[in-house]
Amino acid sequence: NVLILDFGSQYTQLIARRVRELNIFCEIKPYNKLPEDLSTYKAVILSGSPFSVRAEDAPHPDLSGIQGKKPMLAVCYGAQYLAHFQGGNVAPSNTREYGRANLSFVKSDEAFFDKINVGSQVWMSHSDTIKELPANATRLASTDDVENAAYRLEGEDTYAIQFHPEVYHSKDGKQLLENFLVHIAKVAQTWTPDSFVETTVADLKAKIGTDKVILGLSGGVDSSVAAMLLHKAIGKNLHCIFVNNGLLRKDEFPSVLEQYEGMGLNVKGVDASARFLDELAGESDPEKKRKIIGRVFIEVFDDESHLVENAKWLAQGTIYPDVIESVSATGGPSATIKSHHNVGGLPDFMKLSVVEPLRMLFKDEVRRVGASMGLDPLLLGRHPFPGPGLAIRILGDITREKVAILQEVDAIFINGLKSAGLYDKVWQAGAMLLPVNSVGVMGDERTYEKCVALRAVESTDGMTADWVNLPYEFLQKTSNDIINKVRGVNRVVYDISSKPPATIEWE
Ligand code: XMP
Repeated sequence: NVLILDFGSQYTQLIARRVRELNIFCEIKPYNKLPEDLSTYKAVILSGSPFSVRAEDAPHPDLSGIQGKKPMLAVCYGAQYLAHFQGGNVAPSNTREYGRANLSFVKSDEAFFDKINVGSQVWMSHSDTIKELPANATRLASTDDVENAAYRLEGEDTYAIQFHPEVYHSKDGKQLLENFLVHIAKVAQTWTPDSFVETTVADLKAKIGTDKVILGLSGGVDSSVAAMLLHKAIGKNLHCIFVNNGLLRKDEFPSVLEQYEGMGLNVKGVDASARFLDELAGESDPEKKRKIIGRVFIEVFDDESHLVENAKWLAQGTIYPDVIESVSATGGPSATIKSHHNVGGLPDFMKLSVVEPLRMLFKDEVRRVGASMGLDPLLLGRHPFPGPGLAIRILGDITREKVAILQEVDAIFINGLKSAGLYDKVWQAGAMLLPVNSVGVMGDERTYEKCVALRAVESTDGMTADWVNLPYEFLQKTSNDIINKVRGVNRVVYDISSKPPATIEWE
């Protein structure tokens, strides 16, 4: 296990992902919440930070329990922090130290730089620079602009680098992490999807015993993988509930239900479409629509869960990015927990203990764990789909007729992406039904019908996104298909807005 101490860098999660890619387990902790018991950690990585070490309110944790006692790698701010407090000199830089650079000197007899040579591209992002190293430090690498790009402290396994090994643009970053973690710190590379499944299933068995567990399936990757882990651990004592809110994609409810049954899950499909659509009638405000859907879902789910007698646990598909305690961007020692719609989950009145088997996994790891359990690659590769479903893609009020129109349009678009081999190149795609009618002509007749907008974006986490440059031929065919096959639509547009400033959904 490796500890990553977060000083508030935007890249801290990336460090964790790179470490996990080496099949090494790691945890992120805020710098001001250093775990008391460090015995399980084989190595420690200090992250970067938006702060200057010279600032009064900058993170200045006491590292005396770690430094010299455990192998330590200090990245960027971490490297400056060490230099500053070991008698070196950190000062504002006169040259721009941001972006690509190449190593111009490497101390190649050091295991730390094994297989990394002069010329290797690294990524810098800092405004202070280390002007002088501490007396007990040896310089290990330089670039043209940054003399002290890497150093180590003599007599201990303490290494420091000014560049960011975790970002894609540091070409040998992964090799460097491997050199440090595997060859210097001797951390075992045993964190694999198979081993995760094995230990998680054993833990779940021990924790849950013969109790009953309730889990809400959504059709998405996280809840499906969580269900499969629990299914392996406790079999039929896992009671899955899959609610149709009437706002799913075309044919999604029966086909996903069938797929779940095929996986051997004890799953109950509850068609509550009418209840949702009736409650939504006449409501146009996006946030109010979301609230209605959230409330009705809880009511339906609660009714269903009462039918499972003596249930003790509520399982959720919460993943690591939702639970990492992050150092707040505005700084200060007050670590905040990111709020997210999944965290906190269902209301207290359900009085069930919560079990979250994916709490420590990143999204790509959830997919790999799913694959190692044999889940259908089509299920694992599905685009994200919002909980309120088509309700937030029908702008304005929702009627059954509008849902039916949008389901048809969406199906043509999504199936088209699949048959053109474009589906996996897109992070998320969907269609929006706009609250405008426009004039058209079909045959000899004037029409006055609906307009739909298609949206396809690339992204890694939905926080930022860019529109996808879909081929014109594809857009042409899709538009023709939609206008010819879906009654009530006479115009198709393609959304070419990035996020920010636009959002992915239109509501
Ligand atoms: P936006 O529109 O905010 O969407 O750029 C970012 C990601 O979040 C999804 N999304 C939601 N998911 N409930 C959800 O479960 C919601 O109310 C909701 N609103 C947006 C959206 O589909 C995209 O993946």
